[in-house]
Amino acid sequence: MSESLPLESPSLSRRQLLNFLTGAVVATTAGTVLYPAAKFFAAPAEVGEDGSILAKDINGNLIPASQILAEAPGTRALVAGLAAEPTYLTLREDGTLHPWGIVDNCTHLGCTFPWNPNENQFQCPCHGSRYDADGNVVRGPAPLPLKLVRVTLAGEYIRIAPWTENDPRTGKQPWWV
Ligand code: FES
Repeated sequence: MSESLPLESPSLSRRQLLNFLTGAVVATTAGTVLYPAAKFFAAPAEVGEDGSILAKDINGNLIPASQILAEAPGTRALVAGLAAEPTYLTLREDGTLHPWGIVDNCTHLGCTFPWNPNENQFQCPCHGSRYDADGNVVRGPAPLPLKLVRVTLAGEYIRIAPWTENDPRTGKQPWWV
């Protein structure tokens, strides 16, 4: 007695096979179209290999760069930076982000401080230290300039990285490295 295989699988009719192939083509096409779009809109990695992070607001939400860039020139925007340290980002006169951010941590005893736009200074409320717009000490008792971080655009977000090069204000090795 000879055994022969059925010509058609009883579990997969010709119509089912056609539906399956059509579905596979549609899925492949949709994936090809949607993947680049999803990749474009998705946030980049939150933590970079260089220890950088994406700027967030006080609630831990990523801040769209467009939100900061829409502010008036000269704005100091306070965001959560490295290790969640509050960090000032500066919007320059040409509407771009300044490449360094200033960490909101007084070098005297670590108080946080506001930006005073009328005097163009950071003014620490704890013991009266004052810093210019670049974070240089104008008046003590603060002994050192404010710590800097590197600020770059990462697509629709803002990346904050440790500043390890020479301090651009002194030309010397930064005190925090
Ligand atoms: S902590 Fe800022 S002046 Fe003392």
